Amino acid sequence: MPHTVRIKNTGLRGVTVADTKISFIDGDRGILIYRGFRIEDLAAHATFMEVAYLLLKGALPDNRELATFSDNVKRARGLPRHVEKSLKCCPQNAKPMDVLQASIPMLAMADPDFSSEDKDAHIRMATRLIARLPVVIAAWDRIRKGQDIIHPDDNLSHAENFLYMLHGSSPEQTMARALDVCLVLHADHTFNASTFASRQVASTRAHMYSAIAAAIGALSGSLHGGANTEVIKMLLELKNERNINRWVKSRLDKGERIMGMGHAVYKTTDPRATFLKKMAKELSELTGNQDLYNVSLRVEEAALQEFEKRGKSTIKPNVDFYSAPVYYMMGIPPDLMTAIFAMSRVAGWCAHVIEEKFGEAQGKPALYRPQADYVGEYCGLMGCTYKPRRKGN
Ligand code: COA
Repeated sequence: MPHTVRIKNTGLRGVTVADTKISFIDGDRGILIYRGFRIEDLAAHATFMEVAYLLLKGALPDNRELATFSDNVKRARGLPRHVEKSLKCCPQNAKPMDVLQASIPMLAMADPDFSSEDKDAHIRMATRLIARLPVVIAAWDRIRKGQDIIHPDDNLSHAENFLYMLHGSSPEQTMARALDVCLVLHADHTFNASTFASRQVASTRAHMYSAIAAAIGALSGSLHGGANTEVIKMLLELKNERNINRWVKSRLDKGERIMGMGHAVYKTTDPRATFLKKMAKELSELTGNQDLYNVSLRVEEAALQEFEKRGKSTIKPNVDFYSAPVYYMMGIPPDLMTAIFAMSRVAGWCAHVIEEKFGEAQGKPALYRPQADYVGEYCGLMGCTYKPRRKGN
């Protein structure tokens, strides 16, 4: 019987629960690695298809492997008819992350591999999930706007095809590459809340789709992936604000958070944020959104100054701070931004589910089962003296 360790109210910070070969973060030095490759190198030289393959299979693909994997993803893009129909039944004001989460069991029902415990079947399921999440997201955005769904175009790359299905026209190459880089940057991040949720579900031997549905739920929260939507709302609200320093100070004085800042692991600059900041500048020049970019800079500067004064200089922009303006400049609606995060992170989630289920990093996997100290009332059993209170006593 393992001994009991009490680490309460810490959100499990600093607690190691597993071994992984998928990704690594050095939060003090701002380093992120996927399977041995620095994120900076992958963002500069790799495509999302290569990175998804790397995460799932453990090595970068050669040309033939990449062509086969990309073809498999393209071939899996079409949505099963009942999924398309069920999307059309969702209320128009449904949140994209709720619709996306609801689509996952629907997709499972159409997957011939979903109850298989075989590793190759899991890779095929991962391929279908990577292929279909963007199709669901774009379809839902069009359905809620009363527009016709645009079906995937097999001549287009993953990022190009998503923007095409969303906007109805093929994107400029700069935009498509920018989205592809965003997908690379968001694809994995060790044991963050949504990945841990997916691994926890996988540890019960539930199927891949159950684990991914749980991960989408966890990602939707504003302290996790939902932060990008909150960031863009804040930046748009502040576009006409003259005194951003005062706004930031007053927010912090009230105990409120500046969204897109701070991180549970990074205590220095998040390496993804550095990339996204440069991208935000380039896209602002390309799209004439310099105002938005300048507001981001001013909020960052004011927040860093305030955090410094308050002895919290380790709080810096995270991945969501500059990805929000980047997505906005791609024409992505604010409430769809977290779903874009999901369409990338699904590659990491699937890799983690496979690692968890097949014990690839740590031998035989165990069911996650932490404990809690019971601080509620007792019932009279086992010598307990609790007496139920009656109404009116
Ligand atoms: N704005 C203001 N204060 C912040 C802050 C932010 N963005 N992030 C952390 N803090 C403060 C907390 O208020 C807390 O202060 P206190 O000790 O005086 O109570 C302290 O820093 C520690 O925060 P805590 O939430 O306990 O721990 P953490 O550093 O692990 O927090 C986050 C990580 C992500 C939860 C937190 O930074 C946050 O809420 N950020 C905003 C949401 C966000 O962008 N999420 C996306 C993360 S990728």
